[in-house]
Amino acid sequence: MMNETITQKPDFDFDNFTFGLQATDRMLVARYENGTWSDFKIGPVQNISLSPLAMCLHYGQTVFEGLKAFRTVDGKINIFRLESHHKRMNRSLERMAMPPLPASCFIDGIRELLSKESKWVIDDPEYALYIRPFAIATESKLGVDASREYLFMVVLSPLKAYYSRPLRVKVETDYIRSSRGGAGSAKNGGNYGASLLPQRKAKENGFDQIIWLDAKERKFIEESGTMNIMFILNGKTLLTPSLSDSILDGITRDSILNIAPEMGLEVEERAIEVAEILERIRSGEKVEAFGVGTAAVISPIKEISYKDEIFETYVNENADMYRIKNKLADIRRGLSPDKFGWSDLV
Ligand code: COI
Repeated sequence: MMNETITQKPDFDFDNFTFGLQATDRMLVARYENGTWSDFKIGPVQNISLSPLAMCLHYGQTVFEGLKAFRTVDGKINIFRLESHHKRMNRSLERMAMPPLPASCFIDGIRELLSKESKWVIDDPEYALYIRPFAIATESKLGVDASREYLFMVVLSPLKAYYSRPLRVKVETDYIRSSRGGAGSAKNGGNYGASLLPQRKAKENGFDQIIWLDAKERKFIEESGTMNIMFILNGKTLLTPSLSDSILDGITRDSILNIAPEMGLEVEERAIEVAEILERIRSGEKVEAFGVGTAAVISPIKEISYKDEIFETYVNENADMYRIKNKLADIRRGLSPDKFGWSDLV
């Protein structure tokens, strides 16, 4: 049982904080045992206890999601694309041999948690409350197998601009993120853990982030850091790698692909050779490049480095990527119509 002893006002400096260090007051917990998820419980954020034999600690059966809640201009809470995140969580769970979460747990649970934590969704266009649902294997057993017991939890954490300045990125030519047939399209912890060493090495060499190439030919662009990647060519065409089982099916990616045509951009989803992008920049074309993900939304890339050559992309305040970012922000805040039914209002 969780004890409800929670103070009224967040004791938190919303003007000055680092993302991810602070959880809000409450969290949600549900358990899977004997083939079924039990009802969720919402209570104070507290530590959990696990057997040292718990399977998530050994064989990587962990899955997470990341989504955001915003305060709309008429004072409601908008949990953005809740249903899409539920579907993707279940696809990731399936890939990791974990049981799917019913809507009564994921969707109703997150809605109820947000209504209880509403004071953490402040009215500020730069601010969002980040929602982190995750599931872990908890059965106490060292045999390599799919666990028969799981924990599903949701914690919340305040978020402002995730990467504030345009990034210098390096095309990674040694390490790869995922291969065809692997688990790259699932949001499981291992994909992120395996990216940390290459990311650290890139940082040591003065880069903010990595562009990942395909595992087989090492010539097609897949993702950037923990995000999908997009390009805008000559202010006309929005180009992004088509999805595969080695690329995460980004929900921000999907939102942008849906709104881009309304903003006068043609959309192309296809295999993109890194050589094509570099050649376009070399020949003087206007190429915008940016990472897209839920946390940062759009992360402008200002330089791409490939085998010791540096290529400068087009970044300035008139860039089309910022028009897209603003349009998405307007939909989420209720300033622009939500034609696609993406807003879940609490
Ligand atoms: C996102 O871009 O939303 C991510 O997946 C990053 C997250 C791991 C903080």
